[in-house]
Amino acid sequence: MKVAATSASVVNCTAEAIVVAVLSDQQLTPAAEEVDIALGGVIRRLLESGEFSGAHASTVTLYPTSGLATKCVLVVGMENGSPAEAARLSREAAGAAAKKLAAKQRGQVAFFVPFPSPVAGVCGAMVGCTGQDLYRAEKKLFPFGELLFSGLTDQQLVEGQVLGQAVNWTRLLVNTPPADMYPQSFVEQVQATLSGLPIRSEVWDATRLASENCQAILAVGRGSVREPQLLMLHYRGAAANAPVLALVGKGVTFDSGGLSLKPSESMLDMKCDMAGAATVVGAMQAIARMQLPVNVSAYCGLVENMVSGDSYKLGDVIRTRAGVSVEVHNTDAEGRLVLADTMHVACGHGVRHLIDLATLTGACMVALGRQVSGVFTNQQAWCDTVLQAATRAGDWAWQMPMYSLYNDLISSSVADIKNVGDGRWGGAITAAKFLERFVGDTPWVHVDIAGPSFAERPWNWIDGGASGCFVPTLIELARNYRG
Ligand code: BES
Ligand code: MN
Ligand code: ZN
Repeated sequence: MKVAATSASVVNCTAEAIVVAVLSDQQLTPAAEEVDIALGGVIRRLLESGEFSGAHASTVTLYPTSGLATKCVLVVGMENGSPAEAARLSREAAGAAAKKLAAKQRGQVAFFVPFPSPVAGVCGAMVGCTGQDLYRAEKKLFPFGELLFSGLTDQQLVEGQVLGQAVNWTRLLVNTPPADMYPQSFVEQVQATLSGLPIRSEVWDATRLASENCQAILAVGRGSVREPQLLMLHYRGAAANAPVLALVGKGVTFDSGGLSLKPSESMLDMKCDMAGAATVVGAMQAIARMQLPVNVSAYCGLVENMVSGDSYKLGDVIRTRAGVSVEVHNTDAEGRLVLADTMHVACGHGVRHLIDLATLTGACMVALGRQVSGVFTNQQAWCDTVLQAATRAGDWAWQMPMYSLYNDLISSSVADIKNVGDGRWGGAITAAKFLERFVGDTPWVHVDIAGPSFAERPWNWIDGGASGCFVPTLIELARNYRG
């Protein structure tokens, strides 16, 4: 999708459709005011009559026959909130306008909207007009030929475009059905898409995983005909001896639950279980394209959790790469096993800080709802850095406790620990306490994105399916990373 600046006035803009905004309390932006005057007061009339409330991310479409060069005006509501909400509100308003206009094929669409966060506005528009209907002959959303913005700097446009492409790429990877998205095809697609960027990639196949003692990754993958892979991406934008930030992603390309088989309703969306891995590769793409002056490495543990005569079993004891033995109580608690080995490899490379992203637990959705990610840490300073980046980037995130009492819940009488906690209670936290065992002293933040990374139903500003959540946060984190 081409993104460019427009210097045309609202009245003279010849784009196929233009977008203007109404702020809180039905306050017209300058561009909306101009349109209102050119069209004889129609926007104010709509607001006064109650036909259009101007509520955040709500829209109304006008088809002027005279007064403007364009044939279509979309008016979108955009709440003016606190600075902390700038990114989210911009993204939602832009996304809602774009999604509405994307219902048919269009060439140029021009935004005359004073976004509180222009970069998030550009990203939101690109995301809003891109759908999950990859395999539908008759599309429901049509990405625009060209997206124009008035009043944005070149740097804001470029950054917004890089961010939007990264988020949409992450969404594409997650939305691709599991028959086409398995560990090896994930690696191939990532390498193909990132080729040409200054990123070095390294892949461990099953043979190498065995020689590297990644027994937990291999155990989870054993039930599948698709071989597990560990994909590592290294970007070095700073001095060779500068600290390395590690991004770790859970990449379960399909989670059937294994022998602890999921019921069909819970299994349906389990192509989303590699969203953590897709998030970190999306962020890597943007970090490399922006040439950020930092050193970042991504680690994706890629497996398919399936059922076969060779599946790993309940009661099995796995010796993880870190040497910690784990008793398997539930083969559906596979993500923490994959992450255990993946994070141990990252820590072995001497990374200074680590953040992992994982669709880890349904319990996190019970605790926080479907739009908010759970955040867990072993070092408050690093956690505060991540939470602040999430706020600036417009991703919802909430920190959860890591009291030592939860350690008792994952103790086992036959191995060092077991892979589940105390029934359903505190399930997101016991999963995080399990992960904590595998990062040593490395400052670490775990983000459980089980809810926000994938939506059963569409929102006003984004189609259903993958959301690309936390791609903006990871980029924001890398942008400000000083070690
Ligand atoms: N991939 C799931 C978690 C999940 C659930 C992600 C819903 C997205 C939406 C994970 O592997 C899982 O199955 N977790 C279990 C853990 C339990 C067996 C301790 C869960 O949440 O039920
Ligand atoms: Mn599972
Ligand atoms: Zn899973």
